[in-house]
Amino acid sequence: MPIIINGREVPAPADARVSLLDFVREHVGLYGTKKGCNQGACGACTVLVDGERILSCLALAVQYEGRAVTTIEGLGSNGALHPLQQAFIDHDGFQCGYCTPGQICSAVGMAQEVARGVPSHVTDDLAATEIALDADELRERMSGNLCRCGAHNGIVDAIAEVYAGAGA
Ligand code: FES
Ligand code: FES
Repeated sequence: MPIIINGREVPAPADARVSLLDFVREHVGLYGTKKGCNQGACGACTVLVDGERILSCLALAVQYEGRAVTTIEGLGSNGALHPLQQAFIDHDGFQCGYCTPGQICSAVGMAQEVARGVPSHVTDDLAATEIALDADELRERMSGNLCRCGAHNGIVDAIAEVYAGAGA
């Protein structure tokens, strides 16, 4: 069964050992998704599967037959940037840029988690159905995506503008 990458059906790899990250980059030729640590520690490889964020370096491609994978290349539509991509530009949310695709995919998935009422480590009321994406929530929920240069505050501001209103 094929894997659906950004709306396009792609045959799954014959080798069951191929990670989803290597599949997207080396088999499909989409190099936006980055390989940082290749062991689940940096978030650079984050993609969306059926709208949920996952670390593609820790996933085997064959696990995702029939599933819809969205990479950074698939976030915009009709040649237009996704609003979060534009916000990253507006807020200088990248310096090295290497972590950026993962940051953006992760934030898109993160916003859906907040909308579904999924609590984080810093959520006070675990039974709350509505969670405000304040500064603590935003930074905690994005803590799996590392930025080790000077852009982290810009990243936070960009995400806050799109998903929490300015000032998170
Ligand atoms: S490359 Fe996957 S988490 Fe670092
Ligand atoms: S923008 Fe990539 S590490 Fe900061």
